[in-house]
Amino acid sequence: MNVCAVLPEVAPCDRATIIAKVKECPRLPSLRSIETALRELLHADHRFTTQISEVIRRDPSLTARLLRLVNSVYYGLNSPVNSIEEAVFYLGVRQIRQLAVVTPVIEDFHKLAGNSRFPWREFWQHCIATAILAREFTQAVNAREDESDYVAGLIHDVGKIVMASAFPNHFRAVYLDENPANSDLLERERTILGIDHTELGAIYLNQHNLPDVLVEVARFHHQPEKAVKAPELVAAVHLADMLARFARIGTSGNTAEVKDEAWLDTSAWKILHPNLSKTDQAIGQASLKRTLERLPHILEGLV
Ligand SMILES: [Fe+2]
Ligand SMILES: [Fe+2]
Repeated sequence: MNVCAVLPEVAPCDRATIIAKVKECPRLPSLRSIETALRELLHADHRFTTQISEVIRRDPSLTARLLRLVNSVYYGLNSPVNSIEEAVFYLGVRQIRQLAVVTPVIEDFHKLAGNSRFPWREFWQHCIATAILAREFTQAVNAREDESDYVAGLIHDVGKIVMASAFPNHFRAVYLDENPANSDLLERERTILGIDHTELGAIYLNQHNLPDVLVEVARFHHQPEKAVKAPELVAAVHLADMLARFARIGTSGNTAEVKDEAWLDTSAWKILHPNLSKTDQAIGQASLKRTLERLPHILEGLV
């Protein structure tokens, strides 16, 4: 069935329109609870950069905007900044305050289609859960000094926030109108809007000077075998996203069920651990399941 046939008010956009609209939406909205926490902290008499980083690391939109700002201001740095704490340190409180005062709140953003119906808080939980799990996956292979694994997990689905901001009617048609059970979400996005959230997210992050590895994670987190710059990172985020959806921690907006065998058998395991024995894989998966049991409690206190 042609989905657009029953949704006459939205038609797919061409590439030039999509790129122009993404350019117009530099300020991605944040969750109210986080925007308030950040504002209060910035006005407190005493605060530390670590406290500011702790608030920002719960919000994919603020994180993307923060990294955009630091990588635009410090364009000449040897390597682009992909750490939240480093970005806060470089920018300082005054610039973070400017970032905070122009932060739209997602629950208030009436232009966002059906804003009260999409579970934004649960979506934020999905992003944070993916970030925590992605870090767990990469730390097991190769401990990273920076936090690009956490950041990559946090902003992997930024394309959905971009879609809600720049194309609210299309977003509603994809996520809020009747959605056939177990339909392919990416296919549905492409049919209704003309682009899916992975490509949309990659265009946004690329336009805003974010590091290439983060752009690649946004682009290929559903097809990790296509990654070339950071295959391990993309594979880790792919697994983390699947695991968060499998355990139904938060919601990604994708209602299709993830079966046990789907995340146990995905090719991403081979990218991440080419020589992993079946026994080690079973031990690793048992440890992940324990993390999954703790995650909902951790997330309750964060957003
Ligand atoms: Fe996704
Ligand atoms: Fe996701």
